[in-house]
Amino acid sequence: MAPARHGSPGARQIHCGEVTHDEAIGEVLVPAQDLARRVRELAAEISADYAGKDVVLVGVLKGAIFFVADLMRALDLQCEVDFMAISSYGSLTKSSGVVRILKDLDAVIENRHVLILEDIIDSGLTLQYLLRNLQGRGPASLEVCALLVKPGRSKVDLQPRYVGFEIPDEFVIGYGLDHAERYRNLPFVAALNQ
Ligand code: IMP
Ligand code: MG
Repeated sequence: MAPARHGSPGARQIHCGEVTHDEAIGEVLVPAQDLARRVRELAAEISADYAGKDVVLVGVLKGAIFFVADLMRALDLQCEVDFMAISSYGSLTKSSGVVRILKDLDAVIENRHVLILEDIIDSGLTLQYLLRNLQGRGPASLEVCALLVKPGRSKVDLQPRYVGFEIPDEFVIGYGLDHAERYRNLPFVAALNQ
């Protein structure tokens, strides 16, 4: 079995695959057990805040897939889940500012409590677009739960109600986050060596 490349505990969990030796995987910024613990904390907070309400979780594809799956399983709440796919990046690592809906919601959200589950907020342009779009559909409430935020770079005034981790201004991969569609399957969040 090959040794882990990184000193962090998160890295040790995938030391048997070829991805371990990929030079693009940089420093582990959020180990797997920290993700698991924080997701449970967020779920407890959300469960308390939304108790007794008609909740629709809106996962933003594809980056939020594991976040949605893990958070939803930890919620002590009756809720639905739906997904939107939005494109703002292509395979580049800088925001284009151009946002397109690739897949819209199936659910009607009028008069319902909507909680957007987003993988990461960088410029905030994607989320700003999404919030304006969903607000126009008349939800009872509309809030954001972002697993990761890069605070220094936000180009818009956005206050997500729930935040998992504030991370440095680096392009990150893993736990759903990709670079050119790769590395989503890493169980931790790591910096991309560019
Ligand atoms: P924003 O519009 O600049 O806030 O970027 C939002 C979207 O870009 C996120 O939902 C991600 O899909 C992607 N993104 C932003 N930063 C990163 C990163 O560091 N790694 C991977 N994807 C990112
Ligand atoms: Mg992406």
